Amino acid sequence: MLRPLLVGNWKMNASREANSTLLAALREARGLACDLAVCPPTLFLGDVAAALLGSDVAWGAQDCSAHEPGAYTGETAAVMLKEFGCRYVITGHSERRTMHGETDQLVADKAKIALAHGLIPIVCVGETLSEREAGQTHAVVMRQLSVVIHTLGHCVSQIIVAYEPVWAIGTGLTATPEQAQEVHALLRTQLAAATAAAASMHLLYGGSMKPDNAAALLAQPDINGGLIGGAALKAADFLAIARAAQ
Ligand code: 13P
Repeated sequence: MLRPLLVGNWKMNASREANSTLLAALREARGLACDLAVCPPTLFLGDVAAALLGSDVAWGAQDCSAHEPGAYTGETAAVMLKEFGCRYVITGHSERRTMHGETDQLVADKAKIALAHGLIPIVCVGETLSEREAGQTHAVVMRQLSVVIHTLGHCVSQIIVAYEPVWAIGTGLTATPEQAQEVHALLRTQLAAATAAAASMHLLYGGSMKPDNAAALLAQPDINGGLIGGAALKAADFLAIARAAQ
């Protein structure tokens, strides 16, 4: 069994004061049977790196540019994230796909440049409620992942995939463990056609993962961790999920 990975996606929530309390609690956590990472807003990466240096908790960014450094106002290059010690970068979160018009190809290009700079992309896929109701869940997630596979080739083995049903994000609605497992198994089969390493790739579930539903989700054979929003902002909740991963 893969060691589970729990990644906190703080989204646009953080303050220097709140961060120091949260990170101190995460640093102190002992005896966990999973790995932890946090993805704060970019502005806080320097603080987070300083607070977590030498700890077992990794950090990453919520997005990166698809370009090398240059005239791209407001963007952050993958090479800069690397300089700040990031291990991970989330690409293609549904909030970026819907609110910032990110296409499947842009998401794949971001994953590619992240890998080129030694970052591990956490590529998000997931269907909307109307797509699920129309029976399109499989087609949507496979389309999103296929562009990444095509763009990365055999290097796709180095990414993490997060299945985040859009209808479960921040809504309190969670995919049932069976619903999530079904999609995770589908994604792993799709990856297996592209890489011999599919069985050892981390596939994370995201969407209202909480202390009370985490154990059942994380017990599924193809769910290797979580990408956690709201519950990652409170140390007690994030660590309760971590303990559920034992
Ligand atoms: P919530 O856990 O708040 O539903 O957010 C999930 C998410 O979008 C993580 O990337």
